[in-house]
Amino acid sequence: MTRHPADTSARARRVHGRRRGKTLRPRQRALVETLLPPLQIAAETLREGMDPASLFDRPVREVWLEIGFGKGEHLLWQAERHPDIGFIGVEPFIDGVASLLAGIEEKGLGNIRIFRDDARFLMDHLADGSLGRCFLLFPDPWPKARHHKRRFVNLDNLAEMARCMTPGAELRIGTDHADYGRWILSHMLRQDDFVWQVEKPSDCLTRPDDWPQTRYEAKGAREGRPSIYLSYRRRTQADD
Ligand SMILES: C[S@@+](CC[C@H](N)C(=O)[O-])C[C@H]1O[C@@H](n2cnc3c(N)ncnc32)[C@H](O)[C@@H]1O
Repeated sequence: MTRHPADTSARARRVHGRRRGKTLRPRQRALVETLLPPLQIAAETLREGMDPASLFDRPVREVWLEIGFGKGEHLLWQAERHPDIGFIGVEPFIDGVASLLAGIEEKGLGNIRIFRDDARFLMDHLADGSLGRCFLLFPDPWPKARHHKRRFVNLDNLAEMARCMTPGAELRIGTDHADYGRWILSHMLRQDDFVWQVEKPSDCLTRPDDWPQTRYEAKGAREGRPSIYLSYRRRTQADD
């Protein structure tokens, strides 16, 4: 069930952070004008209970969602290695979208669709159990206490992600921000929809082989901030 009315303008205003950086270079602008339109999920076309698999030209085995893909390196890496999966990348920052488009063109990928707004607005419209995996990699940490309410990890967003995900589907979250890491772990302990995939403490300090390093993770490492890599599974009936 959709929990919020489809008010694009109101939802768009709730995205914190920048949407535009430097002026796009001519090639980036050309990609945004020509390659983006057929790949873009327009906010006006969203319908309650939408099956995201219907967004792709050919049948896909599952649909995976990356929230806040930045410049898109991780999304491109996954999409190239999983041609049978349909990927939705969400990123309000147009410069990041332009970088992703350059990668899509270079690699000739046909399995990525793009939503240029708040991931919560997209998720509100997705059918129950329609996502096979979700990536939330290095979300903005909003370090000041008065901005904590902007953090993407909160109980409402976790519940909405859980609703959109198939039982057994994986949710990956990474951060290089120690306080946000504690915040994420404490919120995950307070919800019942996801089960942490961890056997020993060192598991969350080691990036899995199929989780390439993102730009923000690399920046954190250069500046001396180690990252944590969290993997959760959407609870199934067998977990009860
Ligand atoms: C710190 S950056 C990390 C980018 C990338 N995942 C990485 O690891 O390099 C966080 C990204 O999330 C995006 N973002 C912030 N709020 C968002 C929202 N509500 N929906 C989708 N993306 C969002 C920002 O525009 C930004 O590019």
